[in-house]
Amino acid sequence: MIEPVKALNIDFNLATGLSTTRESTKRQLSRMKGMYYDEQAFDEKVAKENDPLIYEFYELEVPQTEGDILFGTSIVYPGKVGNEYYMTKGHFHTILETGEVYYCLSGNGYMLMENPEGDWQIEKFAPGQAVYVPPRYAHRSINTGDQPLVTFFSFRADAGHDYGTIETKGYRKLVVEKDGNTEVIDNPKWA
Ligand code: NI
Repeated sequence: MIEPVKALNIDFNLATGLSTTRESTKRQLSRMKGMYYDEQAFDEKVAKENDPLIYEFYELEVPQTEGDILFGTSIVYPGKVGNEYYMTKGHFHTILETGEVYYCLSGNGYMLMENPEGDWQIEKFAPGQAVYVPPRYAHRSINTGDQPLVTFFSFRADAGHDYGTIETKGYRKLVVEKDGNTEVIDNPKWA
């Protein structure tokens, strides 16, 4: 007989996204070398601002079968590298045909998505807005506001993460501030 998986209950703060009972995974700026297009601004920020925390998220110990669902919160802090907003690395799922849902709990920003075929899409995050990431799309959360961008996510637990493709190729598009507005531009470094 198969041992039943235990139900569980986890707290996530609606404003901060943080849990008092779990440990988050933290991404400081130095871990994102090559992701921001302004390399000089990147190096200066790492050195002068003591390698700031850009985002954190939860990797929970849920069984990783196709019937299980992985979930947690992601918190992107406000700030910019040059004129490019703080963001997550972004990833494809190893099982490319995997969709994902993100629900914005607090803060403001965007979900930037692109697929291997070259299509890209962007959707707005605001408290109470859910964003559906379709299968095949890499996804990156971008904080364009002045408060932490907090989202709750869930997807099939065996889908896995492919960060390497983004780390080597980059994203086709970038989200930057220009004259006080948010703009999507072509990534000059896209390979
Ligand atoms: Ni994902």
